[in-house]
Amino acid sequence: MGRVTTSFYESIGGLETIRRIVDVFYEGVADDDLLRPLYPEQDLGPAAERLTLFLAQYWGGPTTYSEQRGHPRLRIRHAPFAVTPSARDRWLKHFRAGLDAAELTPEQDQQFWAYATHAAQFLVNSPE
Ligand code: HEM
Repeated sequence: MGRVTTSFYESIGGLETIRRIVDVFYEGVADDDLLRPLYPEQDLGPAAERLTLFLAQYWGGPTTYSEQRGHPRLRIRHAPFAVTPSARDRWLKHFRAGLDAAELTPEQDQQFWAYATHAAQFLVNSPE
C-alpha cells in the first residue's frame, strides 16, 4: 500500500490551470505602460512560456523549466530590469487577475498568492 501524495501542481489542475493564470497575467502586462517596456521581446509568448514552466516546476510539476533554462536564479535574471516598488505592484495586480480567472479553492488561492507576493517583494531591486 503505497502512500500517494499529490503535489500542489496536480491539486490545482496542472499545466492547464497555470497556463490560464499566466495567459491572463500577460494580457494585463501587454496593456501596461509601466511593465510592457521592460520586456525585451516584441512577442510576449516566450516570456509567458518561461513563467508557466517555472511555476509548474516550483509547485511540484515537471522540471522542464530547469532542463531548458538551468537553475532559476530569479534575482540575477531580473537584475537587468528596474523592478521598482510600483513595478512590483503592477505585476501583482495582473497576477491577481490571473489567479482570479483560475478560480482555485480559497486555501489554494491563498497559498499561491502568498508565494507571489513574497517572490515579487524579493525581486524588487531598484528604488522608484
Ligand atoms: C515584481 C515585478 C516583476 C517584474 C517587473 C518582472 C519582469 C520580468 C522581465 C522583464 C522578464 C524578462 C522577460 C523574458 O523572459 O523575456 C522576466 C522574466 C522572468 N520572470 Fe519576472 N518580473 C517580476 C516578478 C517576477 C516574479 C514574482 C516571478 C516569479 C514568481 C517572476 C518570474 C520570472 C521568470 C521565471 C522569468 C523568466 C526567467 C528566464 O528563464 O529567463 N518574475 N521578469
